[in-house]
Amino acid sequence: MKLVIVGSGYVGLVTGACFSEFGYKTICVDKDQDRINQLNSGVCPFYEPGMEDLLKKHLKNTKLLSFSTSLSESIHKADIVFITVGTPSRRLEDDADLKYVWAVAEEISHNIKKYCLVVTKSTVPVGTSNEIKRIIEKTVPKENFDVVSNPEFLREGSAINDFMRPDRVVIGTDNKKSENIMRELYRPLYLRETPIFVTSIESSEIIKYASNSFLATKISFINEVSDLCEVVGANVQDVSDAMGIDQRIGPKFLNAGPGYGGSCFPKDVKAFISTAKKFDTNLSIINAVHESNKKRVIKIVDKIEKNTKKNSSLTMLGLSFKPNTDDIRESTSIKIANLLNEKGYQIKCYDPEAMENVKNEKYNFHFYNTAIEACRDTNAIIIGTEWNEFRALNLIDIGKIVNEKIIFDLRNIYNKDEVIKIGYKYYGTGK
Ligand code: UDX
Repeated sequence: MKLVIVGSGYVGLVTGACFSEFGYKTICVDKDQDRINQLNSGVCPFYEPGMEDLLKKHLKNTKLLSFSTSLSESIHKADIVFITVGTPSRRLEDDADLKYVWAVAEEISHNIKKYCLVVTKSTVPVGTSNEIKRIIEKTVPKENFDVVSNPEFLREGSAINDFMRPDRVVIGTDNKKSENIMRELYRPLYLRETPIFVTSIESSEIIKYASNSFLATKISFINEVSDLCEVVGANVQDVSDAMGIDQRIGPKFLNAGPGYGGSCFPKDVKAFISTAKKFDTNLSIINAVHESNKKRVIKIVDKIEKNTKKNSSLTMLGLSFKPNTDDIRESTSIKIANLLNEKGYQIKCYDPEAMENVKNEKYNFHFYNTAIEACRDTNAIIIGTEWNEFRALNLIDIGKIVNEKIIFDLRNIYNKDEVIKIGYKYYGTGK
């Protein structure tokens, strides 16, 4: 089976590299010549554990993976073409901007010469795949193509594992022929007995948004419970542990913190609400989640302000929106640091992978090469992202170089009593 992946961003590249690992000849296409040159030299444009090894393996050794800027030259070799372009939030609007999806559908429509299955992998509102079908239908005979929806559920930082060992594969289709092609494509996962859900195209598109919105709901739920825990002297970690052991609830995504960020949850929650509105349906719970998450950062900034000296120095440890990625999109650490900076605080910061990306954004932060250096002469340490290297900081040594021994452990990675015992004031989340 020969595959073409259109859009060599995060999802496209992970998908392309992993399908090569399955043994398929795969071409990843992107309009950005610099990106394609970089990829052809084996360099991955973002940090994702394991990606560069896969890239090099299939680019140089197996030669199953290649990169191109030309969709027209690539597509005639394809049995399946995946649309993996971005669907960002529209400026000033909440719905997904589908201009890249429409442009790719248009381009595909001018280049299909023999039967080809078009797969929507980008996260798109319900109805999009059928619209793609209508665009292609204008120039391509019906018997020469089908469109299916096949959402991805990749988490940054563990995307390769998520692709190779998914909880499920969802295939949204309206005919048996494309279902069979998709089942054949994912045959390497049969050995792992991965559940494959074949649904209508509409259900498949909704599954993606509903899944992300539900996870965001779990996070916001426990975040609000953590506020109550703080006031009454309860410990949210005990609460979520005991809740999560109930199999109907489950322990994952019940970690209280500074709110959800990243390239997916904030955008998908907004887009889901917006899609429902278009169909006169009110997703009031998800709307509340969105509002609650927006307020979260402000609440944390207030807490830090109340418990630190005005205009003093603060250290933000962790800038990426979560560990094991250099992605800073919708990062709560950065939002918090920036708001504090606007209120007059000096911000010292350190992140193992994301500092270059933050430097490009021109924030008024001071950057340090190690966590310890970032803590020198600080008035409080804020742990914004739970990178592993922050879990075992030598707080005794750090205590000797700070101005004040205060920790805001936004991700609850430290034991409160132990930190207090060595002389720190400790502020966790919900404990
Ligand atoms: C998410 C989905 O998990 C994935 O299936 C989808 O394809 C893309 O969006 P990702 O954005 O990589 O993946 O990160 P994820 O690990 O889901 O975390 C999202 C945000 O929620 C992060 O800001 C994280 O810090 C936060 N989070 C997560 C919590 O605050 N508490 C939790 O318990 C879990």
